[in-house]
Amino acid sequence: MPTAQAPEDRYTAAPFVPEGADLAALREAAAGCRGCPLHRAATRTVFGAGDTAARVMLVGEQPGDQEDRRGRPFVGPAGKLLDRALEEAGIDPADAYVTNAVKHFKFTRAEPRKRRIHASPSLREMSACAPWLAAELALVEPELIVPLGATAGKALLGSSFRVSQVRGTVVEEEIHGRAERLVPTVHPSAVLRADDREGAFQGLVADLRVAARALG
Ligand code: URA
Repeated sequence: MPTAQAPEDRYTAAPFVPEGADLAALREAAAGCRGCPLHRAATRTVFGAGDTAARVMLVGEQPGDQEDRRGRPFVGPAGKLLDRALEEAGIDPADAYVTNAVKHFKFTRAEPRKRRIHASPSLREMSACAPWLAAELALVEPELIVPLGATAGKALLGSSFRVSQVRGTVVEEEIHGRAERLVPTVHPSAVLRADDREGAFQGLVADLRVAARALG
C-alpha cells in the first residue's frame, strides 16, 4: 500500500480498495484511504450507508460538515430534506443505499478556527475516489441509481452530464462494465438554496417518483 501522496495526475484510491472484500471490509479499508490529499484536512472517510440488499443507490457529491463529524452520509440538513422527499415519493429508506461520489469532506475556512465552508471537489479528486463507488456498485448491484446533482452525475455518466437535461428521466448506461438504469435529479442542497424552496422540493419529489415507478 502506498505511503507517500502521489502527484496530482496520479491521485487514485485504487491501491487501497481490497479485492473480493465485502461491504464491511470495504468500509474499513476506506477509512485508511490516502488516494488523494482530501484525507488530510477531513476528520474521517464517510463511506456509504445501507446494505447489499438495497434496491436503489442514491449518490451525492461529498460529505458535508456534519457528515464529516458523524461519519455517515446525508445526516445534516440536506439529508433531512432528502429523507422527507424520499418519503413523499414513496421510496422506503430501508431500500436505499446512500453514498457519495467523493468520500472526504473538502472545505475552506475564511479564517483559522472559523466555520468550515464546503468546496467542490476537483475532477481529479472525483476520479481518484471513483474506485470506491465502483466497488460499492459491484457489491450492492442496485436496480436503480439516483445521482443527486452534477458531481454525482459527472462521476457516473461523464463530464458532459447536465442535470437540467436529464433529471427525472430513466437513463440507461453501461457503468464499470454493468448495464445500469439511472434517474438523475438535483442535489438536496440546491433545494435548500433555492429562492422557491417549496417548488424546488416538489421538483425533487417528482423526480424521485419517477425513480419509485422505475423500481416498480
Ligand atoms: N451532501 C452530499 O452530497 N452528501 C452528503 O453526505 C451530505 C451532503
